[in-house]
Amino acid sequence: MNTFRVCSRTDTYTVHYITAMAALRTALHGRFIQAFPFSLGSLRFASSFKAADLTVERSVAGKPKPDPATLVFGKQFSDHMLTIYWSEKEGWEVPQVKPFQNLSLHPATSALHYSIELFEGMKAFRGVDNHIRLFRPDLNMERMHRSAVRSCLPLFDKVELLECIRKLVEVDQEWVPYSLDASLYIRPTFIGIEPSLGVSRAAHALLFCILSPVGPYFTTGAFSPVSLLADPSYIRAWRGGVGAYKMGGNYGPTIAVQTEAVRQGCQQVLWLYGEQEEITEVGTMNLFIYWTNEGGEKELLTPPLDGIILPGVTRQSLLDLAREWGEFKVTERTMGMKELLGALNSGKIIEVFGAGTACVVCPVGSLLYKGKTYQIPTMQNGPDLAKRFHKDLTDIQYGRKPSEWAPLAV
Ligand SMILES: Cc1ncc(COP(=O)(O)O)c(C=O)c1O
Repeated sequence: MNTFRVCSRTDTYTVHYITAMAALRTALHGRFIQAFPFSLGSLRFASSFKAADLTVERSVAGKPKPDPATLVFGKQFSDHMLTIYWSEKEGWEVPQVKPFQNLSLHPATSALHYSIELFEGMKAFRGVDNHIRLFRPDLNMERMHRSAVRSCLPLFDKVELLECIRKLVEVDQEWVPYSLDASLYIRPTFIGIEPSLGVSRAAHALLFCILSPVGPYFTTGAFSPVSLLADPSYIRAWRGGVGAYKMGGNYGPTIAVQTEAVRQGCQQVLWLYGEQEEITEVGTMNLFIYWTNEGGEKELLTPPLDGIILPGVTRQSLLDLAREWGEFKVTERTMGMKELLGALNSGKIIEVFGAGTACVVCPVGSLLYKGKTYQIPTMQNGPDLAKRFHKDLTDIQYGRKPSEWAPLAV
């Protein structure tokens, strides 16, 4: 029996993280644990590990820090990692920050056979003031929690997990690059480690987090547009499936399609879905189209969160910013290939770009569909909107613009 009790699901969690962290710090110091404001109480579960119990074992000698200019995504790791073990019988063990090391897993481990695995992707930034900030980490914790529910993995207190991750970043703070276009990628991961070949809920689990310094996405310092392969014979996710969750099983099968895209001279895949060939996502990014719509209005459009779209933190941030500006229409709706190509042919498309933690925004320059290449005028149009989003978000991330979206980690 799972001993965890969910108080309530909070898919519409809107509590500002900075306020939450202030309350959390107070709470973690043993005071007012019941006094969390607003809906924060619904984030808490009857049983979870506690950040206050976290132990730290420091590595004897740190590795040399790489030059940010030479970093290749995900190849280098910091000196420490966070591990938190769980078993149905004993519940959660205490969180541990310890020297970065290999895991020792039983060969029947359920994550290896049945992909009981989920992860998150977030970043820590060293700002102009030398403080280290996270970016909307509450949204990552929410998404991770939803993925855990869908994976039948044990539930946890999102605020406690975030504080454990913050402490890990604090221990490895020298790994956050001293650079205004590099960052420390944070990879929380959650796996079933049941040593059994039965296809069943894992009674043993491991939540861990590793850190990897990453350099600029656009190495030249300027936006460079990507070319996309749009082939309706490949599908990333389907309604009723798990595309809206950040599970490892969603990613492995995309590699062959990405390889095919490169073979056909493209850089990434535009994922289509269904009879209308709905445009859904770009590689591992959410997709945005800025255009003049049928009614002659300027409109920013992105596919809705209807089960086949990963609810990106960047996607949410672009929607929030655009709605706050109030300068053009902002719409979440599906658009099929026919409508997109029609709009492209009649000169209505202004910018197409992907959005994600890796790049913030990434302009799309062309589309290969059924043997024909369609040019997209994103770069000819600036891309003014993509650049504005990029500037606004990076200003927040690197502390040039104060925002509740970027709480201090250290
Ligand atoms: C499939 C997919 N879509 C979109 C995104 C963008 O999400 P985020 O903005 O949270 O990085 C990601 C990134 O992880 C992704 O894997």
